[in-house]
Amino acid sequence: MSVILAIESSCDDTSVAICNNGKITANVIANQTIHENYGGVIPELASRVHQQNIVPTVEQALMNAKVTKQDISAVAFTQGPGLLGSLLVGVSFAKSFALALNIPLISINHMHAHILAHFIDDPKPTFPFLCLTVSGGHTQIVLVRDYFDMEIVGETLDDAAGEAFDKTAKILQLPYPGGPLIDKHAKLGNPKAYKFAEPQIADLNFSFSGFKTSILYFIRKQEKENANFIAENLDDICASVQHSIVQILLTKLKKAAKQYNIKEVAIAGGVSANSGLRAGLQETANELGWNVFIPAFQYCTDNAGMIAIAGYQKFLKKDFVGQEVSPMARMEF
Ligand code: KG4
Ligand code: ZN
Repeated sequence: MSVILAIESSCDDTSVAICNNGKITANVIANQTIHENYGGVIPELASRVHQQNIVPTVEQALMNAKVTKQDISAVAFTQGPGLLGSLLVGVSFAKSFALALNIPLISINHMHAHILAHFIDDPKPTFPFLCLTVSGGHTQIVLVRDYFDMEIVGETLDDAAGEAFDKTAKILQLPYPGGPLIDKHAKLGNPKAYKFAEPQIADLNFSFSGFKTSILYFIRKQEKENANFIAENLDDICASVQHSIVQILLTKLKKAAKQYNIKEVAIAGGVSANSGLRAGLQETANELGWNVFIPAFQYCTDNAGMIAIAGYQKFLKKDFVGQEVSPMARMEF
């Protein structure tokens, strides 16, 4: 029997989840809207808001899961990677909580957790599988041999896929974070309306910085002829940008699947909420006979449910850490 309380505070969302015997019974996410005013996450503000949100979010999660503090068997937390000031709030809270209740502490790598989100609901992938993890800070193709036996076989050399979405949105004067807005407009546009330069990288790695620049130059050029170009063509621009990013991602994923001879393929991370990527992956799967795994929306973007399920796997192995543990902005995979 186990009840794991999990805390995620690596960026700008404070999230607390409960995993009761391997089932997620609460996943509360307190979003921080304050960053919208600045066009990006302000680390100092993020840690302050985590500080305000952490206690009410824990209380809400306990209430949703219908458990009390005394029922908790262990506390799992995101140790990194992420913003140091944000991580500090979650790690300090987790340590104090575990100390007060005299229960074990479990440290989780945020990037492992995005992948392990696939073990929350059925159907679950079988090992080995490939996972394309696409978020605001990372773009990785990971060969997953077991719960904590993972190898990065391809990754971005510069910007992450989420950044490509968010920076394009900024060029299009959409508010932060722009990824979900590009997705929304893309649904109404023509994905073949415009074509952008795709990066030419031979191996399984990615590059998005040149792609982003090509969009910027394209928009500037169009605006010279028509000052209202963005407003008049927003849906088509978003659909075309999204289509290009999805193609870049799927091309490398197909290459990896072929190279490793694996047909069990998953996506994870904030960008896996993207409807174009979800549809494109399903299409590729039908074409190549893949088994694909796409997390429920609430487990794509940052959430503590994924930390709780990863924590549960470590709890079963009694893989605990001591009170000397500290957050790590950069963390070895
Ligand atoms: O995993 P996540 O919540 O946080 C990080 O660990 O980075 O990912 C956030 C990223 C942001 O760049 C956001 O714009 C992007 O995921 N995102 C999307 C969508 N929903 C979130 N990008 C494209 N389409 C979406 N529907
Ligand atoms: Zn994340």
